[in-house]
Amino acid sequence: MTVRITVDDLEIEVREGRMLLQALDDAGLLAHEIEIPHFCWHPKLSIDGSCRLCQVEVEGESKLQIACNTKVVDGMVVRTDSERVRNARAGVMELLLVNHPLDCPICDQAGECKLQDFAFDHGRRACRSHEPRRTLAKNVAIGPEIVFDQERCILCRRCVRFCNEVTGTGELGVFGRGDASVVDTFPGVPLDNAYSMNVADICPVGALTTRDFRFKVRVWDLDEVDGICTGCARGCNIRLGVAKGAVQRAVPRRNDAVNGTWMCDPGRSSCRAVGAPDRLTEPRLRGRDGRLAPADIATAIEAAAARIRRLVDAKGAGVLAGIASAHATNEDLFAFWKFLDSIGAGTRGAPVVRGASDGILIEPEKAANARGAREIGFDVTGAIAERIRSGAVDAAIVLGHDILDAQFLGGTEALATLDTLVVLDLHQSELHHVADVLIPTRHAAEKDGTLTNSMGRVQRVRRALEPPGQAWSEGHVISLLGAALGLAGFDGGWDAASVSAELARSNPRFAGIELAKVGSGGLDLADVAVAAATASGEA
Ligand code: SF4
Ligand code: SF4
Ligand code: FES
Repeated sequence: MTVRITVDDLEIEVREGRMLLQALDDAGLLAHEIEIPHFCWHPKLSIDGSCRLCQVEVEGESKLQIACNTKVVDGMVVRTDSERVRNARAGVMELLLVNHPLDCPICDQAGECKLQDFAFDHGRRACRSHEPRRTLAKNVAIGPEIVFDQERCILCRRCVRFCNEVTGTGELGVFGRGDASVVDTFPGVPLDNAYSMNVADICPVGALTTRDFRFKVRVWDLDEVDGICTGCARGCNIRLGVAKGAVQRAVPRRNDAVNGTWMCDPGRSSCRAVGAPDRLTEPRLRGRDGRLAPADIATAIEAAAARIRRLVDAKGAGVLAGIASAHATNEDLFAFWKFLDSIGAGTRGAPVVRGASDGILIEPEKAANARGAREIGFDVTGAIAERIRSGAVDAAIVLGHDILDAQFLGGTEALATLDTLVVLDLHQSELHHVADVLIPTRHAAEKDGTLTNSMGRVQRVRRALEPPGQAWSEGHVISLLGAALGLAGFDGGWDAASVSAELARSNPRFAGIELAKVGSGGLDLADVAVAAATASGEA
């Protein structure tokens, strides 16, 4: 059921029973066509109604109403920018600023602070208060990840509600009464949960900041690029803040079909892996002396191709195993699948490490593209580890190093006896001790492509920064290797968009899903399949 309302002469249809702010947010109008400043309301938290900044004029009501807690009714007429509303907002801002410290020049929130923005847009130009501002605790580490500045807090209680309603951990509360109220942790209870850094994202001011980002870089110096967290199969939508050639922070990007407005703390840490000191930075070849030595990519590819060709010619492609990585993109994995088909290697899999899940966001599969690997056809159970242990394999091309996890091979022993081991990986691992050819690959934040999350949502990754040293997409390396082996369909080139189009043409699960069509919110495999079925039924 919907109702029609008018907001500032704009007639819109919204869901019945919703509060005005929520209804405008549902319709995608809030902060776009219609601006109603607010502090305490958040689309994913309960209504608090405490900041009073969202007051609007509703025709027929004698008093101003708060938009976050006023239900829409059919025929409602709302004004968000009348003189009464502007005066009320200016009054709210003046009250909030009476005690706010003059920290802006040294505050890490400057540049993305709602108090600063709203003071500029809706506040009075001059301060009328002469009384001293209240002084409270500053720079207190209230948990392993969060630093609290109590003076800057405007008591919107978003952080308190987050810990009560989202994580259920309840570390924060409001203590004291009236103008002596303060937010704080309960005595002896640190703010320590797997989602603690979200409180810094939702704090509208600089009261809560994260240890990992504060004072690293000014926010206006960041290039912000949409990305996907690769920490688990949820594929939370994120925004990477890039400066000085490195990822400086990752913050959640709203996608109601995936992560709402949150991400977990381990996910944020996993984004730091992009610039980890153990990244591989150049191809390496094992020489006659048994040592890995740097090589250029052409030499490394030719050496890998020569070893594989020799073995396949002598024993057939059955001795070659393809161990894919569920951290690679759909395009990388499709290229690898095609390569294995083309050479005739039937032994293949994409071992996916499993761990804990929490019923909030964190998924048991610890790879961003576990579902994509499955949809393309790879077995993700790790059965391939048994095949290698059985001695039926003489050569392997390994993407990533998840195969070494205790859930699979548990080390390099079973690989050490192989005749040929070609490794494509981001990071150093034990595989270095046994690889014959080692080629560095790109992180999802360094390439274009798509990942399929656990719910079947195909989501886009974009090149946000350059890799350290030399690195190639796994699919590109496979294309080079395929060309060196003279395999049909491989010319050594790499264009993720055309590989994505080929995947969409050749795998019915991906029909209609091409890189160029995957917008910022992603595309659902099931939705596209239904649309395709409907279209063909109509045809
Ligand atoms: S610390 Fe931030 S989020 Fe928490 S109540 Fe204060 S202003 Fe709001
Ligand atoms: S839930 Fe998974 S995908 Fe989301 S932020 Fe955490 S690790 Fe990343
Ligand atoms: S947003 Fe409505 S009262 Fe705070």
